[in-house]
Amino acid sequence: MNLVLEKVQPNSALGKTASVDLFDASGMLLLQKGQLITEGIKVRLKKREVYILHNQRNVSFSEAQKVKTFPKDVYIKLVGSLWSIYHDAKLVKPEQIQKTVILVETILEELQTQKFYLDFNVIRLDMEKFKQHDYSTFVHVVNVALLTALTGIWMGYKENSLKYLTLGALLHDLGKLQIPREILNKPGSLTDEEFKIIRKHTFLGEKMLKNSRLSSSVLAMVREHHERWNGKGYPLGLYGKSIHINAQIVAVADVYEALTADRPYRKGLPPYHALEMIISWSGIDFNPKVVQAFRESLILYPENAIVTLNTGEVGVVVAVPTQMPTRPLVRILFDSNGRFLNRETYVDLLQELTRFIGRIEFKEDG
Ligand SMILES: [Fe+2]
Repeated sequence: MNLVLEKVQPNSALGKTASVDLFDASGMLLLQKGQLITEGIKVRLKKREVYILHNQRNVSFSEAQKVKTFPKDVYIKLVGSLWSIYHDAKLVKPEQIQKTVILVETILEELQTQKFYLDFNVIRLDMEKFKQHDYSTFVHVVNVALLTALTGIWMGYKENSLKYLTLGALLHDLGKLQIPREILNKPGSLTDEEFKIIRKHTFLGEKMLKNSRLSSSVLAMVREHHERWNGKGYPLGLYGKSIHINAQIVAVADVYEALTADRPYRKGLPPYHALEMIISWSGIDFNPKVVQAFRESLILYPENAIVTLNTGEVGVVVAVPTQMPTRPLVRILFDSNGRFLNRETYVDLLQELTRFIGRIEFKEDG
């Protein structure tokens, strides 16, 4: 892909707000997407040449390399359905599980046909409007289920084994519905007593499911998703391979999702940072094989994504190293002063360790 500045008629680009970023001929940003266009601005823009950034494809990508974002409408329906099935559940009935299996099938249908870039921040932002329902647990489990299913597919899970894995991920935190919201959403650090209460959610979740006739692997995910590879998890302190493999997978997805989510007391970490932490805990908290599959299945920075570095430079991802997907090669388009660079300039984040990706924009390609 080549990104080029394309001249546009100011009239066509000027609505009430700018529908795209607008530049001058030198690549200087005149008006940011979404910014209000007042009469004064309109008059001034009409007097000058206005450009937009345009994708000019000169490489055709094969179907296999195409990356999509997970469809937002499907995602919102998933969270809504899950909420309506479980929000006041005490003891889960087989009918509720049957309804959840339909959601699992929806997820798997979407995931198996495409490679996905999961943009949780955009999705979470959309969920803000449902705050009154306290959707956070449901948003979390849907995110975890998507990550878990992707890892499972990467590890060769198929058909029923993949279904149970994804179902277990959707149900893994069910016990949290029994934990007082004041503790779950408490801003600031928890007391030892509050930690003790939160830790009961694995056991409470399993208890809620005792009448549901679920497969033992699903129950193991609910019970063991806070166990750790080194034996330092809870509730039982299981060690290594004595933890059910499905629980080992959901554990990685669970921690990654929690790290990237905003909490009442801190902002979520950027995906690259969360993934680097997960990698650093490989062999300590998590099974190295699971971490490797998680890392390889997760598309952190799709090729062609527009990214903003911590330096303020804006560029496009041109290549992603398999071994260190958090540090792609980026072609810089705009320097830190917002000036368009005509010559080809690359930043290799594998070499330049003080630079990192702060923000990402990924537009679906057709
Ligand atoms: Fe949990």
